[in-house]
Amino acid sequence: MKANFFQGKFIVFEGLDGSGQTTQAHLLTKWFMEKRNQFAYYTKEPTDGPVGALLKLVLSKRLFCAASNGNAAPRRLDETSMALFFAADRADHLHNEVIPKLKEGVHVIADRYYLSSLAYQSVDTADYQWIKEINRNIIRPDLTIFLDVPPGICVKRMKTQRWHVELYEDLDNLERVRKNFLLAIEKSKTEGEQIEIIDGHQPPKDVHKAVVQAVKNFLRLVIAAEKNQHQKTDQQPTQQQLALLMETEPLSEPEIAAIQLG
Ligand SMILES: Nc1ncnc2c1ncn2[C@@H]1O[C@H](COP(=O)(O)OP(=O)(O)OP(=O)(O)O)[C@@H](O)[C@H]1O
Ligand SMILES: [Mg+2]
Repeated sequence: MKANFFQGKFIVFEGLDGSGQTTQAHLLTKWFMEKRNQFAYYTKEPTDGPVGALLKLVLSKRLFCAASNGNAAPRRLDETSMALFFAADRADHLHNEVIPKLKEGVHVIADRYYLSSLAYQSVDTADYQWIKEINRNIIRPDLTIFLDVPPGICVKRMKTQRWHVELYEDLDNLERVRKNFLLAIEKSKTEGEQIEIIDGHQPPKDVHKAVVQAVKNFLRLVIAAEKNQHQKTDQQPTQQQLALLMETEPLSEPEIAAIQLG
């Protein structure tokens, strides 16, 4: 994976379906804009691009492969093809949305990224190393936040909020996906990735508070690294920047209530 050398930072949310990724990614985007006065861009996978649109049809069980034999039931796409489609969608996403924004100095907040491919597609047949391989040229996130929520709670949340259940969303499968996520996180951390696991089984405002704390810790390191770079060119480090960061509060309850999504 390639490091992100652009000015904007790339922060990714991961988790099981119903774990609150969309909610928290939107809250963090708002936090950057309103509390830090920094441009932030929310985006998600699968994308609205051509490959993403196809994936969404498969996930919502509206696209099947016709059976070769007239009596057999239509088949759904196999995991190998799914993994390739997700990797293609991700390449398109990076090229058309993520990288242009990062280049402009805008922080990109992504709702799912490559860890989801590792966790979901390796559940069945597609091989873990191979999935890593087809994602080799993507940009490494600067920070990944995994929202850990018990699979049973995720299913409950989805049942109360949705009319349909998507592919991968039954309890047994989510249990396996959670295990895969934790394994993939462990491995990725040993490869130097910055990944924070946050307890997502608490009220949205408390999850947001924990997310902001993790992001502030990360930004402190970013400021320190920039300080070192500046010292090389004899510029003054900014203690002020750090003080300002430490003072930045999470969004308040009314601010959160204003954009509750699901
Ligand atoms: N911390 C929370 N506590 C209780 N309910 C929550 C919490 N966060 C989100 N929800 C609710 O759970 C549902 C799923 O949340 P959300 O859409 O943010 O999850 P998601 O991880 O993006 O799910 P999906 O994978 O389906 O996109 C929504 O109805 C949302 O309002
Ligand atoms: Mg979502």
